[in-house]
Parts: sequence; structure tokens; C-alpha cells
Amino acid sequence: MLLSQAARLHPQKRTIRDFSTREVSDEVLNRVLAAAFKAPTNDHLHQLEFVVVRGHDNIAHLISPVAQNTQEIQQTMIKASAGEMDTDEHAMFIDALPKQQRMLMQSNCLVLPFFRQKDCPLCHPVEQSSLNYFASAWAAMENILLAATAEGLACAFRIPIANEAEHVKQIVKAPADYEFTCFLAIGYAAPDAHLCKQKEICIEERIHPNRW
Ligand SMILES: Cc1cc2nc3c(=O)[nH]c(=O)nc-3n(C[C@H](O)[C@H](O)[C@H](O)COP(=O)(O)O)c2cc1C
Repeated sequence: MLLSQAARLHPQKRTIRDFSTREVSDEVLNRVLAAAFKAPTNDHLHQLEFVVVRGHDNIAHLISPVAQNTQEIQQTMIKASAGEMDTDEHAMFIDALPKQQRMLMQSNCLVLPFFRQKDCPLCHPVEQSSLNYFASAWAAMENILLAATAEGLACAFRIPIANEAEHVKQIVKAPADYEFTCFLAIGYAAPDAHLCKQKEICIEERIHPNRW
């Protein structure tokens, strides 16, 4: 992808949590996932693998802890922090939390990206560079989101919480040295898909010449 194309796609790349019933073909999905391997990667490794899950029962089995985990945080978090969150953040949570389970089911194309985590356990880094594998996986994720946007697709992802990553790793029989990034739903947007308001950022205020 040319730099100018990527720059044009960034403003269009949005999180969509409402999908239509239109199926994503394997051909389109392969093109989208291939973009992951064009992202920068530590040590030139590209140690990414994808499990693609389709079918109501298969997806439901994989995401079975999501509903309860989300309900628990939903009840405590939204009420408790309504006064503390800024309004855009609060509005996003009000829309997103009730859709966590549904969005993963609805697209009927659930991608589970895994990355090899060599040497240092992911949750016990000894220095910043111990997270290079994780960082590379997320650079690849952004490429996937941009490639999906270029194909006219919509995406939503959920970061696994509590027991969700272990549950997924066990079900798909992921190798022990591979870690799970997120549940990534890829599909076509529903005609009335909700778009959360994006934050208005003044770029000049975020760039500090020579020193902060
Ligand atoms: C690190 C990270 C974690 C996120 N976790 C979730 C999540 O668990 N569930 C979800 O629906 N969206 C999640 N999102 C998506 C954000 O909520 C989304 O980007 C935000 O609402 C802004 O919308 P936009 O992407 O359309 O600009 C996450 C995004 C990031 C970068």
C-alpha cells in the first residue's frame, strides 16, 4: 500500500460493531490478512498465525465467557465512572459494552490472531523490548484494519479479559509459545451501523518542537 493510500484510509477506518448478514469470502479475507505481513516486525520474524472461525456454534463456544465477563464490568464500570469519564469515552462504552458478544457472533467471520512470544512471558516483561512481539502483533493488527477498510469491510475487536485468552488457546489448541491478541470480527457493516463520535484532536497541540 502506498503511503498516500494509507493516509487516505486512516480517517475512514472506524470501529463498527453492527454487521450485516453478508459473508466475507475467503478470497477477500486472505487479502486482508496478508496485509499483516507487510507491517514492521521485530527481528524480521513475522511469527503470526490466524485461526478463522465461522459458524454460529463454533463462535459461540469460543466466546462463551464473554457475556458474563462483560456484564460484570458493565454494571460496575459504567455507573461508577460516568462522572469520571469524558463524554466521548462514556458514549463509546454505552454503545460498545452491550454489543461485545453480539458483534463477535454477527459478522460470522471471527479471526483469532496469534503471535509467537519467545523467551520472556508476555505478562512478565523484564524490559520494554520484552514486549516487541506484542508490539509487532499490534502493528500487524492496524495493517489488517486498514486493509479491511480498503476492501469495504468493517471490523470490531475485543481485547480478551479474565479467562478469555486461556479459554481460546485451549479450544483452538494453540502452541504453548503463542499468545492470543484479540477477538477480531470482520464483516460488512449493517446499513444502520452506529459510529462512535471520534475525538477531535488538534495536532498542533500534540506536537512539541524540540522539547515537551
Ligand atoms: C488497545 C485497545 C483495546 C480496545 N478494546 C476494545 C474492546 O475490548 N472492545 C471493543 O469493542 N473495542 C475495543 N477497542 C476499540 C476502541 O473502543 C475504538 O477504537 C474506539 O471506540 C474508537 O472508535 P474508532 O476506532 O471508530 O475511532 C479497543 C481499542 C484499542 C486500541
